[in-house]
Amino acid sequence: MAIRKIVELGKGDVLRKHARKVQKFDRRLGVLLDDMADTMYEADGVGLAAPQVSVLKRAVVIDLGEGDGLLELVNPEIVWTEGEVVGPEGCLSVPGRRGTVARPEKVRVRAQNRRGEAFEVEGEGLMAVCLCHEIDHLDGVMYVDKMIEDITDKVEEEEETEEQPTEV
Ligand code: NI
Repeated sequence: MAIRKIVELGKGDVLRKHARKVQKFDRRLGVLLDDMADTMYEADGVGLAAPQVSVLKRAVVIDLGEGDGLLELVNPEIVWTEGEVVGPEGCLSVPGRRGTVARPEKVRVRAQNRRGEAFEVEGEGLMAVCLCHEIDHLDGVMYVDKMIEDITDKVEEEEETEEQPTEV
C-alpha cells in the first residue's frame, strides 16, 4: 500500500493517452488498485483512474463516501445510459478548478473485478457522473474538454450551494 503521485493536467501527456485493456489479473494489478485507493483517500477524492497515477491501464477506483465502500473497476465500459443532467465537476488532476458538465442521469457499466470476474454496476446522480468521468480518463478525455462553464467561488457563494465538490 502506497500513495502515488497524482499527475496534473499540463504536466506531461499521460492524461491524454489511451489506456490499455488489463489482460493479467495478477498481484501487480492488486497492488495498483490498492495504491490507487490509498491515493484517492489521501487526496479526499471520490474517484481515481490509473492514468492519473501515470499507469496506462484501464483501472478505476470509486468511493463516494456514502457508505457503499470501495468500487474497483477493471476494463469498465458504459453499456447503457439514460437522461442527461448538468452538474458541477472537479478533478484531482485539475486542482483549484470546477465546472459544469452534462452527463447521463443514469448509466450501466460492465467491468471486471481484480480477479477478472465480470460484473455490472448501475449508477445515478453522483455515481453516474463519477463512472463517466473516470472512464473518460481511460480514453485521455478530461472533464474540462466537456465543460459548459467554469464555476467561480463567487457564483458558488451567491447560490449558497451545499453541494460537495466532486473531485474525481
Ligand atoms: Ni478526474
